[in-house]
Amino acid sequence: MDPKAVKSDLVLILDFGSQYTHLITRRIRALSVFSLCISGTSPLSSITSLNPKVVILSGGPHSVHSDDSPSFPDGFVDWALSNGVFVLGICYGLQLIVQRLGGEVRVGQKQEYGRMEIEVVKSCGVFAGKKVGDKQVVWMSHGDEAARLPDGFEVVATSVQGVVAVVEDRNRKFYGLQYHPEVTHSPEGMETLRYFLFDVCGVNAGWKMEDVMDEEIKVINNTLAPDDHVICGLSGGVDSTVAATLVHKAIGDRLHCVFVDNGLLRYKERERVMETFESDLHLPVTCVDASDQFLSKLKGVVDPEMKRKIIGKEFICIFDAFAQELEQKLGKKPAFLVQGTLYPDVIESCPPPGSGRTHSHTIKSHHNVGGLPKDMKLKLIEPLKLLFKDEVRQLGKILKVPEPFLKRHPFPGPGLAVRVLGDVTEGNALDIVRQVDEIFIQSIKDAGIYDSIWQAFAVFLPVKSVGVQGDQRTHSYVVTLRAVTSQDGMTADWYCFENSFLKDVSQRICNNVRGVNRVTLDITSKPPSTIEWE
Ligand code: XMP
Repeated sequence: MDPKAVKSDLVLILDFGSQYTHLITRRIRALSVFSLCISGTSPLSSITSLNPKVVILSGGPHSVHSDDSPSFPDGFVDWALSNGVFVLGICYGLQLIVQRLGGEVRVGQKQEYGRMEIEVVKSCGVFAGKKVGDKQVVWMSHGDEAARLPDGFEVVATSVQGVVAVVEDRNRKFYGLQYHPEVTHSPEGMETLRYFLFDVCGVNAGWKMEDVMDEEIKVINNTLAPDDHVICGLSGGVDSTVAATLVHKAIGDRLHCVFVDNGLLRYKERERVMETFESDLHLPVTCVDASDQFLSKLKGVVDPEMKRKIIGKEFICIFDAFAQELEQKLGKKPAFLVQGTLYPDVIESCPPPGSGRTHSHTIKSHHNVGGLPKDMKLKLIEPLKLLFKDEVRQLGKILKVPEPFLKRHPFPGPGLAVRVLGDVTEGNALDIVRQVDEIFIQSIKDAGIYDSIWQAFAVFLPVKSVGVQGDQRTHSYVVTLRAVTSQDGMTADWYCFENSFLKDVSQRICNNVRGVNRVTLDITSKPPSTIEWE
């Protein structure tokens, strides 16, 4: 998507490495204002070419005093002044403004971390809606502080400890907040951002998913020649489904999707997703049954990393064969590949000082199972690459992807191979984990708690224990149930079920799944665990 075609002013975030930077972008988009995030040390031309109305300098873990502290490029201030661009510094961003415009930042005598009360000392600009003496609680996280402001700046609020909390130079349109308005621990923060953007900067809001869809369709049609063909590997997950549906809307049956049954899918997964693709979304999908191919390669493999590598390689072989078959059928090589890459995968973020790394892409490589080999020379179409997950869900809704599909828990690319410990081909482990998982997930849905859980699943343990069923002693397998709450899967906590739910689900599993006589519950958070077991 071309950012310049969006019907909204752009608020550009320069990222100096704060853990909250992405949150600022999301908060601003939640106000229907288009926002992008780029590295804080991007060259001036990358900033000016985007023509932002407002630039926000993010926080970061640095001190302006250290030699290698990141800063905005030379010429930025002059460019902002001569183009009437509003600049807001948050935390480290405020300190950068103070230092670069000729003021002084010093190591604070009183460091401020956590909740802090601030008081309005001058009712103007960003705090114009407030009276002198008004107080509010905000979230602070800083060691350095502004000691002397550059000429033209005024203090608008201070913390109860007397530290400068809000500053502004209304003539030059430079503003600074020492605290983080974007986090929920600053209860009035969102209101402050709203007031700043709309009342102070006069930003024009118009970031709507309908427009994003129309614009994306235009871009796809401009990118492709009328006889170009496109392929897309569908995983059954939200991102690839929404991406494919969008591309299908743009180019119709020149899109060719493939869904691979690798023998590691959940109970009736293949039938269920194919039904959605065909009946609800009318997507042209070829289903490749490659279970034998995958399972024979996995026979005897117990090392989790090895499993992932084998699966990734097999996916590539299958996509390759699919592309070749299409070439024979169409008399033309497919030229493009659709991928459901999301914005968090492409945002550059600033690594911590001393890490020796420069700005780098933060891509969770294990989530890209099934990527195609470089020598296939396919060009990429990534229609979701400026969107966050919740925005993809909104777009999916507009594209009429069924709601329950959009709300599905994430499922890993290597499938049940990371939910069966040890050799997945041993005995009927896959069958057992499928049945247990189905009962568990169905019970969760029946209890009406599916949407409160980020991810839930069953795990097969290759361990047998003694039990008694009827009058017989048994020696059967142990399974474990895992359910977590999370924001993004990076950290997670285990979900607290009601005892009655657990009693019921364990009974249902033991009564219905042959080969299981013990059900356990995983009660570890991530870290120290991961979400999946392998
Ligand atoms: P972990 O277990 O790493 O999982 O805490 C975090 C999230 O990522 C999913 N996951 C994967 N997804 N390929 C994928 O496509 C993988 O190899 C993979 N491993 C974990 C996991 O299901 C959870 O949503």
